[in-house]
Parts: sequence; C-alpha cells; structure tokens
Amino acid sequence: MSREFANKVVWVVGASGGLGSAIAQEFLRAGAKVALSGRNGEKLKAVIAGQPDASHALLLPIDITAPAEVDAAAAKIVERFGRIDVLVNSTAVSTFGDFLKLDDAAWRQVYEAKLFAYARTMRAAMPHMLRQQRGAIVNVSGNGGKYPHFPSHIAGSSGNAAVNLMTKEVSDIYIGQGIRANCIAPGAIRSPRLDSITDADKALKPAANDKSAADAAAEKMRPPGAAADIAEAALFLASDRARHINGIVLTVDGGATPTTA
Ligand SMILES: NC(=O)c1ccc[n+]([C@@H]2O[C@H](COP(=O)([O-])OP(=O)(O)OC[C@H]3O[C@@H](n4cnc5c(N)ncnc54)[C@H](OP(=O)(O)O)[C@@H]3O)[C@@H](O)[C@H]2O)c1
Repeated sequence: MSREFANKVVWVVGASGGLGSAIAQEFLRAGAKVALSGRNGEKLKAVIAGQPDASHALLLPIDITAPAEVDAAAAKIVERFGRIDVLVNSTAVSTFGDFLKLDDAAWRQVYEAKLFAYARTMRAAMPHMLRQQRGAIVNVSGNGGKYPHFPSHIAGSSGNAAVNLMTKEVSDIYIGQGIRANCIAPGAIRSPRLDSITDADKALKPAANDKSAADAAAEKMRPPGAAADIAEAALFLASDRARHINGIVLTVDGGATPTTA
C-alpha cells in the first residue's frame, strides 16, 4: 500500500458508518493522520482497533446537528495535528417512508444529518484549508440524487441532489484558492443501511419489490458494491492524482445508473 497521505491530515465525518469506517481505515493505511467523527465513541474505537497506525487516529465523537460541537471538533484537529488537508463527509440517518407520511420532523432529521451537516463541517474545516491555500473535500451523496431509485428514500435522495449542487457551488466559489470539492454518488453498497432501505421499500410497495426474472437477471449482472469501492474513490478524489478534478459527482455503482440520469 502506498503511503501517499503521509503527513496529510484527514477528517472523516461518519467514520463509524458502513462506508465511513472503510474510508477512515484506508486513509490510515495510506499514512494519513485521521480524525474520526460519528455519534458513537465505542463504534469509533472499534473502527481503529487493530489498525497498524491506530496511533495516528484522533477519535472525536460529536453530534453533527450541533454546530458548536462541529466547530470544536475542527479546532481540536488543528490543535492536535496543525492543519486539515482533507474533509470527507459520509453521514446519514435511516429515516425512510411513504411520501405522504413523512412529516416535517422526518424531513428535517434527514436534512440535518446530511445536507446541513455537510455545510456545517465544510464551514468549520474550510477556513483552515483557505489559510493553507490547499484542501480537498469529498462529500458522499448517493446515486438516488440523480434519478428516483428507492421510493422510501425520497427525502434522502432529494437531499443528495442538494449535496451534489452545494458541492459544485463550493468548488466554483473557491476555485483558485487551492480547494477542490467533489462528490461520490454510490449506488447500492453492501451495508446495514442498504438492508434498512430495502426493507422500508418492501413495506411500502410489496408488489413493486416482487422481482421479475428480468430484474433479478439485471441485479445479478450488477451486484451491490463493497465499502472498499467507495474508499478507493474517496482516496483518489482526495489525492493529488485528482488535482485537475473539481466539482464533479463521481458515480460508483458498477454501472447501475440509467444512461439518461
Ligand atoms: N450504503 C449504501 O448503500 C449507500 C448508497 C448510497 C449512498 N450512501 C450514502 O453514504 C453515506 C454513508 O452511508 P453508510 O451506509 O455508511 O451509512 P451508516 O452506516 O448508516 O453510517 C452513517 C454515519 O452517520 C453518522 N451520523 C448520523 N447522524 C449523526 C449525528 N447526528 N452526529 C454524528 N454522526 C452521525 C453515524 O454515526 P453513529 O454510528 O454514531 O450513529 C454513522 O457514522 C450516507 O450519506 C449515505 O446516504 C450509502
């Protein structure tokens, strides 16, 4: 494994999750100093347990819906490591359901944990990146932000579309100041989150989930990806190898997204 992130400081928000944990571990293996955030400190401990460079990790359990906690986390990273080179956002809550039954509180919960949270962490990390005139942001959105996918995920998918646009806007505003901002739009990735969306969909539209032979064949050709596939993409976008890539949404879905999306 290359140590291309040696001397780089990376903040992974959502590092206790299915995708974020793989991303944080991959950055550690690539030599980075990694700050890991999520709500649950015990889960964060488990993510670094057994990692060869666990001493390069800083565990920062926070609630990303609390702006003061987000700002304090960014300050702690700079106090400990002196800078922030890379910010990866990979959070979400599992709020799924029938559009007519999703009330304002449910929508707010989804947006608080992703769109608003990503804006908060960027606001907290970017002043340090601007001071350095260098930084890379990788926001994990989802391919449901491009086309309707899981009916029960309507709040999350619309939020993903907003994350894609917000990230593009940020890349435009700060172009020329050393900051790149890109999104990764995963398709279905084997994870507990995928299982809960699929279950919610089945409850919503049982008939629509009775797979036809054609659907089953298509799924066989395009099986869900692995968290490692998203980690690979995150490290690439954060690296200097992607220095000329800015403001894109990189779809990582094994080809599942329709060509019209
Ligand atoms: N898995 C997929 O198939 C898939 C497909 C497309 C897009 N995505 C996107 O990829 C991203 C990661 O997905 P995942 O599968 O890794 O989800 P996950 O396993 O449910 O992880 C979600 C992460 O968000 C954190 N989080 C949620 N609310 C928080 C809060 N208030 N404060 C701090 N942390 C909070 C969780 O922390 P705790 O563990 O402490 O709760 C956890 O680290 C999400 O944006 C998701 O929409 C996933």
